[in-house]
Amino acid sequence: MSGPILVFDSGIGGLSILDEIRQVLPNKDYCYLFDNARLPYGELEEEILIDGCRALITTMVKRLEASLVVIACNTASTLVLPELRGALNIPVVGVVPAIKPAAAVSKKRHIGVLATPGTIRRPYTHELIEKFGGNCKVELYGSSELVLLSERKAAGYQISRVEMDHILKPVKLSGIDTLVLGCTHFPMLKAEIKDYLGKDVLLLDSAKAVAARVTSLCQSADEVRVRDSMEVAVIEQGKKEMTALYTAKEIEGGLKNTLAKIGFSKIERVQPD
Ligand code: DGL
Repeated sequence: MSGPILVFDSGIGGLSILDEIRQVLPNKDYCYLFDNARLPYGELEEEILIDGCRALITTMVKRLEASLVVIACNTASTLVLPELRGALNIPVVGVVPAIKPAAAVSKKRHIGVLATPGTIRRPYTHELIEKFGGNCKVELYGSSELVLLSERKAAGYQISRVEMDHILKPVKLSGIDTLVLGCTHFPMLKAEIKDYLGKDVLLLDSAKAVAARVTSLCQSADEVRVRDSMEVAVIEQGKKEMTALYTAKEIEGGLKNTLAKIGFSKIERVQPD
């Protein structure tokens, strides 16, 4: 595997996944692609979401000669994985809401899934609950407002408790003991969500599981490469420079600063062919 790992989301949410992958694979090259021209994905019609993702991701995989792509977006993963796997000849890793681990740890057998309205609606999510929800009572919460708040935080704005109260009050009143953060934007607000819901609600996301999947794919590909060419990989020390690509006309200075702090040295607009 020589090309970069391409991590994709509608906005800054996939950075929560990228961060976890970089912790276990710091020597890989990464490119972060976000389709912020069409955010929030949770409000898009299915066909529009699928067609746009296919066009953008297949173009960028070719241009960058990516070796692996991570769809670091639950909303897109509920729809586009079969299409992309059919169109690309590299591994495509998706995100699945952490319903199975949540059902396994919930003492009250009462869990919540907080995701985008699109993810909450999709049969994909309902099948996961059916299969892995155990005998738990499962509450579903869909919010695009929380996606936009997460974007605002990344652009440097403060998020108030009043805003959290407005969105999360039903979650707080539900009596659940475990909440699945089923949108990759939400771990970016983990501190605020935790502060609002209190210590009795455990928050779970899928970032570690995605990082483990990417690691196992990279390890088996590297083993094949070394075996085939008998070459010995030189492990470089320290974290590498990264590129961030976005689709909107412009992005805020605050977001550019955040991306630069994370380690993105190149931040550019791209468009599909
Ligand atoms: N970060 C995304 C997810 O995991 C999508 C958020 C959105 O654009 O609505 O679902």
